[in-house]
Amino acid sequence: MFDTDRFNTLKTHAIRMNTPAFHLKRLIREPRRLTDFSLNIPGFFYDFSRQRLDAAVTQTLNALAGDTGARKMFASMAAGKKVNPTENRAALHTAARGFLDAGLKPENPQILNDIQTVAQDIRTFSQGVHTGRITGTRNQKFTDAVIVGIGGSYLGCEFVYKALKSTQHPAPSTQHLTLHFLSNVDIDSFGQILSRIDPDTCLWIIVSKSFTTTETMANLAQVQTFLHRHQLRPEDHLVTITAQGSPGDDPSNPVLASFYMFDFIGGRYSVSSAVGGVPLSLAFGYDTFERFLSGCARMDRHALEAPVQENIPFTAALISIWNIQVMKYTAQAIIPYSSALSKLAPHVQQVYMESLGKGVDIHGTPLPGPAGSIVFGEPGTNAQHSFFQLAHQGPAFPVEFIGVLTPGYTGDQTKSKGVSNHQELWANLIAQTQALAEGRDHEDPARSFSGNRPSSLVVIPDLTPESVGLLLSFYEARTVFEGFMLNINPFDQFGVELGKILASDIRTQMAEKNAGTPSGGAPPDPVTAFYLKALFNGRID
Ligand code: F6P
Repeated sequence: MFDTDRFNTLKTHAIRMNTPAFHLKRLIREPRRLTDFSLNIPGFFYDFSRQRLDAAVTQTLNALAGDTGARKMFASMAAGKKVNPTENRAALHTAARGFLDAGLKPENPQILNDIQTVAQDIRTFSQGVHTGRITGTRNQKFTDAVIVGIGGSYLGCEFVYKALKSTQHPAPSTQHLTLHFLSNVDIDSFGQILSRIDPDTCLWIIVSKSFTTTETMANLAQVQTFLHRHQLRPEDHLVTITAQGSPGDDPSNPVLASFYMFDFIGGRYSVSSAVGGVPLSLAFGYDTFERFLSGCARMDRHALEAPVQENIPFTAALISIWNIQVMKYTAQAIIPYSSALSKLAPHVQQVYMESLGKGVDIHGTPLPGPAGSIVFGEPGTNAQHSFFQLAHQGPAFPVEFIGVLTPGYTGDQTKSKGVSNHQELWANLIAQTQALAEGRDHEDPARSFSGNRPSSLVVIPDLTPESVGLLLSFYEARTVFEGFMLNINPFDQFGVELGKILASDIRTQMAEKNAGTPSGGAPPDPVTAFYLKALFNGRID
């Protein structure tokens, strides 16, 4: 892609876009700007009118993307081809919600049967818990579930849980469970969870594809000791979600229920599998989870079928390529103007940065430039009062705003300054997109704003399960399209391994010290030795 004529044409366009005539404050005054630079499908509006591009740029981008074969790769992915070559795996997260749609059927029909079997198991299990047919050791109904897992085995589920929870007013169904998330190995996290649950009415759901992740295994050990201390049987209170054949898929350690994560669904793309299905069905009922899946499937179908000029995640991926590879922005922010979407940015951060933060292409050849960029974010308006100073006057970065037309909570409509809270939220959202684009001249340089800072705005109508599904699937599709365009593998994550290996060496040294056994290995380097001593002494000398 990088050494093509089209890419050189894009560079020429960038020079043009960097001239004053193409400042965003001029571009957004064009009468057809929004019509020409926005896309709409039922339930999802994508406005990229405030991106620093024009028709010539989008035409070149579309042609460039056509050359990369990214859409063909997406179709191969949805058909179950092994699009993850380094791990020799398919990437079939779309199949987990494709049961509604014949168009998304993978080549191997057995996969759909397996998915449907797990889905049926989730439905039966969650109904059993809700009706009280399945109870804990002391025959009490479950009220809470703690999800023990990290990274892709947790972030997506937490995002969807928080989003859907916002519509539950005044109170959730008494049958449904409250979820808690135990991801970090930090013992303070475990202590916090214990203060919120009743041991007799708590289910512990261990989510780990590999069932070797040290943080999750350490937390599982805490849970097992906790259950033992309260004379509760693991086979009444533990649920596992793991890959077939993993150390956790072990009938000699009986659990209340176990569900499979499939090797053809990567962790960060797994929220629509049992990883999200079990907890979200316990929290909201299986039917709600199914509605969420149908929202995902709608975006999947759109990503697969819509022509490039109308394809929302494809266009978003192209804009990302333009911003990172050509305009040289090194970061991007995700700013939902909705507290219910407060966990969207951490989820997208993993999906995007773990998928695209690569140094080599699919053939192992080093890339000429960065793939992907830093993703960060916070809900607005909070973000305005923390890091937006830099967004307006520091180094520029593209922002993706998300607006929700109807909030989850529609009570309490007291007006302040003549507007409701939700209108105030939107006033700020609209103002921020304007301020970033237009800027302001001022005689005092400290009070002037250069503007010309790109943003997009995604609008969803509400926080129904369907809308949340559309949003989740949009970010997944956008990420894999961008990976395919860059010719990298968006499904592996070897970059996380070195830290794990080094932690393992350090752990060994700690364990030897705990056991009072002399080290058989190399002595730690002086810096490592300093921190080990500080940790064991509980002070810095
Ligand atoms: O360390 C990164 C990672 O492997 C993620 O890709 C994954 O989602 C997470 O750890 C958890 O892995 P597991 O589900 O195997 O515990």
